[in-house]
Amino acid sequence: EEIEKGGYDHFMLKEIYEQPKAIQDTYRGRLLADKGIVKMSGIDQNLEKFLNANRIIIVACGTSWHAGLVAEYIFEDMARIPVEVEYASEFRYRNPVITEKDVLIAISQSGETADTLAAIKLAKEKGAFVFGVCNVVGSSIARETHAGAYTHAGPEIGVASTKAFTTQITVLTLIALKLAQEKGTLSQSKYHEYLAELEAVPTKVEKALLSNALVEEISETYKDSSNCLYLGRGYNFPVALEGALKLKEISYIHAEGYPAAEMKHGPIALIDEHMPVVVIATKKGHYEKVVSNIQEIKSRKGRIIAIVTEGDKAVKELADHVIEVPETSEGLSPLLTTIPLQLLSYHIAVMRGCNVDQPRNLAKSVTVE
Ligand code: G6P
Repeated sequence: EEIEKGGYDHFMLKEIYEQPKAIQDTYRGRLLADKGIVKMSGIDQNLEKFLNANRIIIVACGTSWHAGLVAEYIFEDMARIPVEVEYASEFRYRNPVITEKDVLIAISQSGETADTLAAIKLAKEKGAFVFGVCNVVGSSIARETHAGAYTHAGPEIGVASTKAFTTQITVLTLIALKLAQEKGTLSQSKYHEYLAELEAVPTKVEKALLSNALVEEISETYKDSSNCLYLGRGYNFPVALEGALKLKEISYIHAEGYPAAEMKHGPIALIDEHMPVVVIATKKGHYEKVVSNIQEIKSRKGRIIAIVTEGDKAVKELADHVIEVPETSEGLSPLLTTIPLQLLSYHIAVMRGCNVDQPRNLAKSVTVE
């Protein structure tokens, strides 16, 4: 096992650090930025299904569901296709309206999650076209779907999902870009900018990983907290949910993710000097609005850990701690902002003496309902 961990203390940390390569493996052969094309056989062979779809329904559980939420923003923004994101467990039991004009995308790292599998079977019975985004090759979900795209993240051992999440987002971004180009919903300059930026993501993830020492230092300050709030807007709202999930999964600190603007409808009541608030406040994506959310937290003495774009000034003046990530296109920012949140949960869990790779009560793959 020590050899498998490749010199890292835990699989989770190894997998966090594998992300630049995993993302590259995911787009290799698919993203041809110099030619301006995205090639994905599962989409190419079923293009009409996607182009004629009334809507896309995404089903998933856990972290994969968060990747689905990011995809909702990406698909609607880039390809102008309506998207609904569903917990597989709710979808399958609520007699959902599904038609032959619907495309269902199931996202699953393991490809074995029982609820997701059941949702797929239901959608197939109703005549929908079902597409899988899985990591494990030959898994049940990969076999049960009509077509699909693998994430190629390599084996993920840590129960808390890290590289599976960022590679799922990578695959879904490729699909959205491909459909956007077919439909003409993105300007050519925007489309090419996205291709080039996506190609640059692995290098930028490397840079984001350089925050590790700083994140470790910040973790020391907050390791004994009982609660933590995560806020983000737009593309980074699902990242806030995922950051909170990571913290609760492995450190057992109660954490909640919220859309920043919803703070005033509830969570603001919880803010005092004992409440750390992690705010994703990157440039682009409603930056000024997030800055005013930060001001509201500060005036209530909340402790602010902000994820900002390199070179940021305004947030630096307000926050207790700032962690920088490189600048990128708005739609790709979750691939970078997620990184320090993964590291934060990792370090806090280690400092609390938790079993990082195998947290209590959780399983890597949930094959029961
Ligand atoms: C479990 C795992 C999570 C994972 C979820 C969905 O809860 O602990 O890390 O996100 O299942 O799993 P899947 O394999 O379908 O992505």
